[in-house]
Amino acid sequence: MAYETIIAETRGKVGLITLNRPKALNALNSQVLADIVAAAKAFDADDGVGAMVVTGSEKAFAAGADIKEMQAKSYVEAYLEDFFVGWEEFTRARKPVIAAVAGYALGGGCELAMMCDFIIAADSAKFGQPEITLGVMPGMGGSQRLTRFVGKSKAMDMVLTGRMMDATEAERSGLVSRVVPAADLVEEAMKAAEKIADFSLPAVIMAKEAVNRSYDLTLAEGLRFERRVFHSMFALDDQKEGMAAFAEKRKPAFRNR
Ligand code: CAA
Repeated sequence: MAYETIIAETRGKVGLITLNRPKALNALNSQVLADIVAAAKAFDADDGVGAMVVTGSEKAFAAGADIKEMQAKSYVEAYLEDFFVGWEEFTRARKPVIAAVAGYALGGGCELAMMCDFIIAADSAKFGQPEITLGVMPGMGGSQRLTRFVGKSKAMDMVLTGRMMDATEAERSGLVSRVVPAADLVEEAMKAAEKIADFSLPAVIMAKEAVNRSYDLTLAEGLRFERRVFHSMFALDDQKEGMAAFAEKRKPAFRNR
């Protein structure tokens, strides 16, 4: 399907979403939101897809929410439309989503990357929450998700000073899972996504759900949830196949059931 502000394509078992507003450094306007949500929903519903990658350009993953689109908004408009709530739809994707970030990931760009399940960064990546420099604060999850990723001290530093963090600092702080040379970014992210897509889809979705529950639950409840989901996996044909393949020293052939 053709979109106005992104390119969505399937490569093997991976759905690749490339932000495509180069003149605005992939600033996230309402059309980008509509396009990304539609593409992620379509990949989530596509039986041929096992994982997704979201990326931008060499210069910018995304330089934030579109400042020019929102600058004239009134309080009552923002409140009544519940401005930015639409991004929650993106986070409802059940299949894993990897952010492949090169260049600027600022404001809403950093927040979009953090909505994904993990972030692979190019050595050129720069993360930041510069909203304070515009007289506002993060509105797409930055004050909450960044704090969970990097802890209070660094999140306060980023949100209150608006400074950028390079890829090395982002990896050291736990914001990104790995850093790769910029030239290999999409290939490396696709490789990780392909690897995931080759596993049992129900097992992958359950594993993602369990990790995400750790944000909302106490440790005791989370551990109980994990065990219950783990028990349910013994109902999967893929569990029998995966363990039989290990015992028989062969590659498993998962059938997603
Ligand atoms: N919104 C709208 N347009 C943007 C944009 C944004 N967030 N970021 C960049 N652009 C546009 C610029 O206005 C410029 O357009 P014109 O050519 O029409 O002037 C074009 O993209 C190229 O940008 P620059 O000329 O500024 O490029 P640069 O290389 O000199 O600087 C940059 C790059 C440092 C990223 C700079 O563009 C910048 O500071 N951008 C804004 C970053 C920002 O403040 N992001 C937070 C937005 S608010 C937000 O995201 C709220 C939230 O919590 C969701």
